[in-house]
Amino acid sequence: MATQLFKSAIAKPLSKLTQFSENHIIRALQAPKAQLQHQFGLPVPRLLPQGQKNAVAYSQELAGKFESNTYIEKATAVGPFLQFDVRPSEYIRATLNQVVKEKEKYGHHTLPEKKTVIIDYSSPNIAKPFHAGHLRSTILGNFIKRIHDANGYQTIGINYLGDWGKQYGLLAIGFDMFGQEAELEKDPIHHLYEVYVKINALAKDDPEIDKRANAYFKKMEQGDQAALAQWKRFRELSIDSYKHIYKRLNIDFDYFSGESQTEPFIPKVYNMLNQFGLIETTDDGASIVNLEAYKLGKPIIQRADGTSLYMTRDLASIMLRRQLFGDFDKVVYVVGTEQELYLKQLFKISELIQQHDPSWPTDLYHANFGRVLGMSTRKGTVVFLQDILDTAQEHMLENIKNGNQFKMDALDDLDSVADKLGASAVLVQDMVAKRLKNYQFSWDRMTSARGYTGVYLQYTHARLCGIERNAGIPFDMKADLSLLNEKEAFELALTISQLPDITHNACQAMDPCILVQYLFKLAHVTSQANNVLRVKGADTKTAEARLLLFWAAKTTLANGLHLLGIDPLSRM
Ligand code: ARG
Repeated sequence: MATQLFKSAIAKPLSKLTQFSENHIIRALQAPKAQLQHQFGLPVPRLLPQGQKNAVAYSQELAGKFESNTYIEKATAVGPFLQFDVRPSEYIRATLNQVVKEKEKYGHHTLPEKKTVIIDYSSPNIAKPFHAGHLRSTILGNFIKRIHDANGYQTIGINYLGDWGKQYGLLAIGFDMFGQEAELEKDPIHHLYEVYVKINALAKDDPEIDKRANAYFKKMEQGDQAALAQWKRFRELSIDSYKHIYKRLNIDFDYFSGESQTEPFIPKVYNMLNQFGLIETTDDGASIVNLEAYKLGKPIIQRADGTSLYMTRDLASIMLRRQLFGDFDKVVYVVGTEQELYLKQLFKISELIQQHDPSWPTDLYHANFGRVLGMSTRKGTVVFLQDILDTAQEHMLENIKNGNQFKMDALDDLDSVADKLGASAVLVQDMVAKRLKNYQFSWDRMTSARGYTGVYLQYTHARLCGIERNAGIPFDMKADLSLLNEKEAFELALTISQLPDITHNACQAMDPCILVQYLFKLAHVTSQANNVLRVKGADTKTAEARLLLFWAAKTTLANGLHLLGIDPLSRM
């Protein structure tokens, strides 16, 4: 089969072949994508089939065998590489037709069978700061959910709040001493945090408070009505204000769950682990699962006083999720590196459970991420999501007012535009580099209109919308594309055609940087095309064709931005 042969020769040198993309070759050869993709990036010699020693001779042999097709006219051997001559107008036509057909679904895929993925992300702790780890979990988790949706998965987004445990006993005691109803109603997140800081300071010098907190939490675990009623209020008010803030980031969870919701399953966890013989009791009366054989320590499952821990609740949450959602194929925990060992323990315990209960899910995945360095807002280093978004918005307003970076249209909804630009800036800064890398938080860099920023991507989108607004001719889906003869038009169509591969790869890797980097490339190629392919002033037929090309670029960019959780702006 021709594709089998060709993938060897085009593997590594692909990037060196002028004007060709993986997508292009794949389409031209109609090869099964997955099969080809994992071969890319390997040096030719390693891919030479058995019995072939000479890459130069081999590429000549392949060139000789190549038969022209709709997109590729001919193949020529160049040293160990194969060079393809494409038929640009066919390629442009095929690409734009696909965008026209699929519109806001362009770049999306379907799956042959139903697959459900649970994404556990954001998950802040009530009454505690929303730290950089939560920011990244929120942004990356939202992307991981959206990219799975776009790849045909059924997704369930869960905010697994830290809303249970001894610290809520402490918080309740603190609220009795320092809490103010009016403040709680006005700004629950900040107020509960204030109370929590004060009571923690007291508890440091007074062991009595710690004991009371433990006793209070025990009351909660035993279902004490009054204790639970107050805790429930704290929780609900906090969720309401979180929802408000998440909205500024276009984030909507399917479930606000949390550690507290696992409570009914906690006894079942103890029973199950006991029944499977996985529990050991320590000298001081705690129950542990011994994972020393796997070099994963001895995580505690139950304290000596009978109360549960974070680990117990994560195991219980798997039970809860099975009850709520039936079978699911994968759970993605979007959590920072600090919890790497913890999650390894959780996953290992799941494997051990599965040996006794084959239906227990073990396709659990840690979407780990690097640290954010130097994150602070004008209020200080203890940050809340709201303060981050407010500060980003302020920076954008300043930039706009100083006019120092880009010319804006006169807009009457400046505050809302600045808010969206600010959010785009924060989001892209977080997703521009590999997920696992640490990065330095920088207001100036992220809010700049130059460089690899969200502001630049928004600017490109708004400009593309401007081309349509100012064209002076009606938009025609049936424009004559044979009028797109310039190499810039071909480059742009070629780049547009890569989105489906990019969304596929970004989902496999669960790494948004693949998409972000691609969108920057698209923005650059768009800007080059825009310099040459004028719409205004061209004859009507040519203008129509160019307009369609830019519309496709805009649609591609917008679809990509949506996957990142960014609302594309049509004016700025
Ligand atoms: N609330 C936790 C924290 O702030 C993160 C929860 C992550 N999800 C989970 N299922 N453990 O550290």
